[in-house]
Amino acid sequence: GLCSVLSRESLKHWNTWGVGGVAPLVLRPRTFPVLRDICVAAKQEGVPLHLLGEGSNVLVPDEGLPGWVLLLRDDPTPPALLGTRGPLREFRVPGGVSLRRLVSWSLRRGLSGLEFALGIPGTLGGALAGNAGAQGDSIGDHVSFLEIQEEDGVVRRCARSDLSFAYRTSPFQKEKTLILSAGLLLAPTEEAELRRRARAFGDLRRNQPRMCKTAGCVFRNPPGFSAGRLLDLAGCKGLVRGGARVSPRHANFIENVQDASASDILELALQCRERVANAHGVNLEFEVRL
Ligand code: EPU
Repeated sequence: GLCSVLSRESLKHWNTWGVGGVAPLVLRPRTFPVLRDICVAAKQEGVPLHLLGEGSNVLVPDEGLPGWVLLLRDDPTPPALLGTRGPLREFRVPGGVSLRRLVSWSLRRGLSGLEFALGIPGTLGGALAGNAGAQGDSIGDHVSFLEIQEEDGVVRRCARSDLSFAYRTSPFQKEKTLILSAGLLLAPTEEAELRRRARAFGDLRRNQPRMCKTAGCVFRNPPGFSAGRLLDLAGCKGLVRGGARVSPRHANFIENVQDASASDILELALQCRERVANAHGVNLEFEVRL
């Protein structure tokens, strides 16, 4: 009812790479008070808490995760209209909502702003933590405020002006900040224009692997370069380690082709990183959370 509890759960089921060991306890709260109680209890007991959304930008280790894993996903709460800001509408959206659902909702409602997220797997909270984006647009650009929960269970509201989002990074990337909800600003837009923008963003992904177990791009782009292009030039496409393979379509994606372990993926990524360092003198930075 209020919270599903899975004990000795394989985390393979809970990330898009389909890897990782076992967690002693996976908790999936359905209400806000339960979520808060879990956080407070973890803090009091000194149990490490790991936040996981749809697991689309994270490498879960083969040793699993100690402590409790909090699954914040599949929140069915629809966006709530808060008001109008000039030409824009402001909505409150819970962090556990799937981006996929959110984007299709916005397109159905004739609201522009989230087209860049078409095809990006993940939850809104996860997208905010990593400031997910495409082609110069990112989720942080559409935020008006965030409601976050501190470790002690206290809820804090952050105004837009206090938030520094940058390329594939947010103030919440490293800290374990739980993003409860976000204010999003969206623009009512004519259907034909909306469809044109959606198509343009969809086209950007034509060189990316489909129907494969991946975690999106593994590395951030260094300023002014495409990491994928550098990896490709360094001969990484198609490299294999155990069950992991560098995508033959786009060199910044690693696919779990046959029951890969997390260490297959990590070692392959490190091998690619070294190749790029040797070939181009550039040290790539991980985008996926390790
Ligand atoms: N390219 C190659 N070989 C490759 C990959 C790319 O030559 O293996 C070339 C392409 O042909 C193109 C250039 O490099 O000329 C740029 O490639 P692409 O358009 O695929 O963009 P990207 O910089 O590699 C970025 C984001 C993607 C996002 C796309 C589309 C990062 C790390 N990557 O990729 O984001 O979907 O643009 O906007 O910022 C992600 O962050 O997980 C992600 C997938």
